Amino acid sequence: MQAKLVLGNWKMNGRHAANVSLLQSMLDDADINREGVGIAAPYPYLAQLAAMFAGSKLAVAAQDVSRYALDGAFTGEVCASMLADMGCRYVLVGHSERRQYFGENDACLREKLQAAVAAGMVPVYCVGETLEEREAGRFAEVVGEQLKTLDAIAGQEYVVAYEPVWAIGTGRVASIEQIDAAHQLILERVLQCHGASASIRVLYGGSVKADNADAILSLASVGGALVGGASLEIKGFGKICQSAKKTL
Ligand code: 13P
Repeated sequence: MQAKLVLGNWKMNGRHAANVSLLQSMLDDADINREGVGIAAPYPYLAQLAAMFAGSKLAVAAQDVSRYALDGAFTGEVCASMLADMGCRYVLVGHSERRQYFGENDACLREKLQAAVAAGMVPVYCVGETLEEREAGRFAEVVGEQLKTLDAIAGQEYVVAYEPVWAIGTGRVASIEQIDAAHQLILERVLQCHGASASIRVLYGGSVKADNADAILSLASVGGALVGGASLEIKGFGKICQSAKKTL
């Protein structure tokens, strides 16, 4: 059985000095400092993470990557090979905040997935429906459509993260039944497209906290967690990582 993966997504948070104490507490915590745990930090702090995590078990992850794979005149962009060069093992692709605020569409996400894989990183491809889509009974259609983008990297190593948009940063967590049903559907679709050989992990994200992590992570269909707000605070994140360890 694959280890459950816990990735903290700091989003646009963190400052150098505060990061030092948070990252040091993570390194000092045996539940956190182990294989299968990583932090996705903003670009300016990736070097800090890479330096502090050197020699530890913790993985460095990026929150985004340029769709342009080759060096050149793309002011403001950060390409996949730069992230790999900085020591990133994972990179988030298609987070709902990027789809919503930065208009990332299927064509763009295909290129980002391909660029990440070509640079030797594992993309964490995020999918999820809005509340409106869920209430209109369009969950399977919307998420099914988003999953088709993975055709761009069929046969390669990747992770899927299911993050219902209505559960992100709202404190409103999907029910255990909703999470299990969504994950079963995603696993089924991925297997249909990429064959029974695909060994795929589906992380759950959306208001994962210390008090709901045990229940969520004990589902067999849940391969780990993508944690936003709770990854900025050591106690809660430690408890989530402990739950992931327990449920292996
Ligand atoms: P929260 O855990 O803050 O709801 O964020 C979830 C998320 O978007 C992680 O990528």
